[in-house]
Amino acid sequence: MKNTRFLDTIAGKPVDATPVWLMRQAGRYLPEYRATRAKAGSFMGLATNPELACEVTLQPLDRYDLDAAILFSDILTVPDAMGLGLSFAEGEGPRFARPVRTAADIAKLAVPDIGSELRYVTDAVSLIRRELDGRVPLIGFSGSPWTLACYMVEGGGSDNFARIKSLALNEPKLMHRLLEVVTDSVIAYLAAQRAAGAQALMVFDTWGGVLAPHTYREFSLRYLQRIAAELPRGDGEANTPLILFGKGNAPYLEELAASGAEGLGVDWLVSLEEARRRTGGKVALQGNLDPVTLYAEPDTIRAEVARVLASYGHGSGHVFNLGHGMSPDMNPEHVKVLVDAVHELSRPYHA
Ligand code: CP3
Repeated sequence: MKNTRFLDTIAGKPVDATPVWLMRQAGRYLPEYRATRAKAGSFMGLATNPELACEVTLQPLDRYDLDAAILFSDILTVPDAMGLGLSFAEGEGPRFARPVRTAADIAKLAVPDIGSELRYVTDAVSLIRRELDGRVPLIGFSGSPWTLACYMVEGGGSDNFARIKSLALNEPKLMHRLLEVVTDSVIAYLAAQRAAGAQALMVFDTWGGVLAPHTYREFSLRYLQRIAAELPRGDGEANTPLILFGKGNAPYLEELAASGAEGLGVDWLVSLEEARRRTGGKVALQGNLDPVTLYAEPDTIRAEVARVLASYGHGSGHVFNLGHGMSPDMNPEHVKVLVDAVHELSRPYHA
């Protein structure tokens, strides 16, 4: 491995500069992504073609001095493999043809056969590892059980999550049955990505933050804890770290840090100074620049990068990232300003 900053940071080892990568670093803001996507015809056409998925995974690395690659795929591949029929209507976001609504729908669900139904993902992981040739480590990922269940029950995105919250409140046993089978699937899926060559694993709990504290603990946190406890990922030097990202997870940092995960991804609603204090060195922290900062002028971006670095302070254990994903209308030049600023401005914190 030529660039070990990202993995060393999560292991708490000293580094020369803070590593940086960006959620949704491969995507529509890059003209070369739009060209490959046009060739594939559709988002799923791109995601299910290992050669093209590999191509777009590497695109941001050719432009920027990033310290990690993230598999190009989507969290909704797992429910798709469970038979829900995923599509992305142009400009509308994800849709499931067969959402999960009734006890009978839930009873029918089973852990998908990863080796056949999601072979395109593990093939992409192996191919990307080969093409990366040790340049930077490769991150694999999954949605969290709660976040996947949100899309499965709602049938797509939602403003208020009325269907899934009703299910959780009216039929908690059914809700848990659904979350159990999704959790088993997530664990099998992440283990398969690790076996195929993923060097770190990340779980996106995008919608945990829409829950009240007691329902968050019952329907989201409990299953994140199960993943952290049960996902096989090796010890010591052979460890494949697990990072739990959650939008709106600030109230739960102590509990998440005690889960056994190696890293926590946090959004911009909490300072890294506070997150570091409350997690007491148990986990590495990843984040947390407000993504909207990328619309600001270059000098402002540098100043905000400096502020995030100062908030974390001295020493290893911080992976720089945004607090959530990039948007299609962001300026590619601004991403270069951000990435270079992280490396340049972080050196004094590692001296
Ligand atoms: O970070 C990366 O570069 C890796 C790729 C990645 C994608 N989706 C590519 C993608 C990752 C890690 C995801 C995760 C994902 N997908 C999440 C969790 C992270 C988060 O952002 O909170 C969620 C909630 C989804 C579900 C999903 N997939 C949505 C809401 C959308 C957007 C639909 C739209 O049209 O804006 C997608 C599609 C998607 N996934 C795109 C990309 C680049 C855009 C599709 C396109 O190219 O047309």
